[in-house]
Amino acid sequence: MGPTSPSSTRAQDSDRGVDPPYYFEDYVGTRLRSPREPLIVIPQTLSEQTGPVFGDRRLGELDHDLTRQHAGEPLGERIIVSGRVLGSDGKPLREQLVEIWQANAAGRYAHTVDNHDAPLDPNFSGGGRCLTGDDGEYGFVTIKPGAYPWPNHPNAWRPNHIHFSVFGRAFTERLVTQMYFPGDPLFEFDPIFNSVRDERARERLISRFDLGLTKPDWALGYRFDIVVGGRDSTPFEEPHDD
Ligand SMILES: [Fe+2]
Repeated sequence: MGPTSPSSTRAQDSDRGVDPPYYFEDYVGTRLRSPREPLIVIPQTLSEQTGPVFGDRRLGELDHDLTRQHAGEPLGERIIVSGRVLGSDGKPLREQLVEIWQANAAGRYAHTVDNHDAPLDPNFSGGGRCLTGDDGEYGFVTIKPGAYPWPNHPNAWRPNHIHFSVFGRAFTERLVTQMYFPGDPLFEFDPIFNSVRDERARERLISRFDLGLTKPDWALGYRFDIVVGGRDSTPFEEPHDD
């Protein structure tokens, strides 16, 4: 995705306080999983650079609509999440696979290791995907995820968030980030959000309420653009489960 390899882009953006560092004291999980040795650059060969970006299975018609993947509708506040995936030059990145995963309205993931004492929703799996169009635009229909506790520190709660993944030209260029909602009271207490040290970069992780995207009598709209690299880059993280 752009002329610079993701690893070098990440190093530069981390130096600028955009991408979170591998080790962030307040984010307890990073104490164990951050590397202790200098990273080794593994040269990419033709197979990594030209292999399929993602599977050859066609996307399902309802993959982008997390409210219509089961027999009934999920509980919670229906929302539209849309935006553009842009390169460092501001140009749209077309045919990018955008994937999301999230907790349900009660703050519970449909995942075996999530034991939060909140109800599962039989009508909500929490996973979706779509391809960007020629203008880089993507769009999802989902429900607003609830906040949930996690064992990082006493009384730790994650702000409402949706996990995002975008693929580049090859599988090795996959980037992962999180989208937040405006005005969340948990921002100041969340070490994952605050591991992005640059304030303006943190703001780029917060979606914007958009009345134009909002559909009357149906759902609120939130806009979240993803910029890959450059001065206005979206902060990206390593894939993880939190
Ligand atoms: Fe999460």
